[in-house]
Amino acid sequence: MQKKLNKIAQDTNFFLKRFVKRQKKSELIIPMKYGLFSGGKKIRSKILIDIGSIFKINYKKLIILGAAVECIHAYSLIHDDLPCMDNDSIRRGKPSTHIKFGESTAVLAGNSLLTMAFEILSHKDLNLSEKIKISLINKISESSGHLGIAGGQYLDLSFEYKKVSKKKIIEMEIKKTGKLFSFCCVAPLIIKKKNKNEIKRFENIGADIGLLFQLADDLIDHKGNSITAGKKTGKDKKKGKATLISLLGYENTIKYADKLIFKINNE
Ligand code: IPE
Ligand code: IPE
Ligand code: MG
Ligand code: MG
Ligand code: MG
Repeated sequence: MQKKLNKIAQDTNFFLKRFVKRQKKSELIIPMKYGLFSGGKKIRSKILIDIGSIFKINYKKLIILGAAVECIHAYSLIHDDLPCMDNDSIRRGKPSTHIKFGESTAVLAGNSLLTMAFEILSHKDLNLSEKIKISLINKISESSGHLGIAGGQYLDLSFEYKKVSKKKIIEMEIKKTGKLFSFCCVAPLIIKKKNKNEIKRFENIGADIGLLFQLADDLIDHKGNSITAGKKTGKDKKKGKATLISLLGYENTIKYADKLIFKINNE
């Protein structure tokens, strides 16, 4: 798995570096690259590539789609660390983008990475029909906006220091993290022009995988080591974040995650 992740990271970064190099230069490129090439597991791309290979989609195409996803993910992390959000100074073992370049530059580099995802998906080098490209852009937009990352991040922040129901916490985690995973799971089906029901099924699987991933991240924050995590841990409790751990406790969250794994395996 690690070897495959490394290969995906290498191929994605190679594509992105070339993509950026072919564009005109700008001052924002340096902070954008800082946020984009600072490491990162590329787990979303891996899921996209695994599902894409089941549907026999060309690897190069999947790398390009994954690169667009990684741009959105990198933007979301730059903004997540801002003082007005989680106020985190370390990301992927390095100073967060706003620590290195200042807050306003980090906001703008984040915005530029978000929009770069749409440039990638609409680019002529991505060898897909315009209709499919529009469907992909439509889906990734939904995953990123008020029904996805941005909406989930809003809920995450507005739930701080509040007692929030399990249902609402799950809704928040699915929006802020699950929706981008949903995109990764359905993009291959969009390319293969699968029907609505099949797309819905894979969207739900993606949301559950994303929820599981966020639960794991919350568990790492609760008990993990900041060196291995590459970011400070124990922050969720300090910031009064509403998580399943804060509501149900550590053991029950593990039990919930186990049930979720069972559900995903049977979906
Ligand atoms: C961290 O995501 C933020 C969450 C959505 C939990 P990742 O753990 O995928 O971050 P990187 O890309 O590997 O740093
Ligand atoms: C971040 O969740 C989710 C998104 C960036 C959309 P967290 O705030 O838990 O992520 P970390 O722990 O800072 O990486
Ligand atoms: Mg956060
Ligand atoms: Mg955070
Ligand atoms: Mg976290």
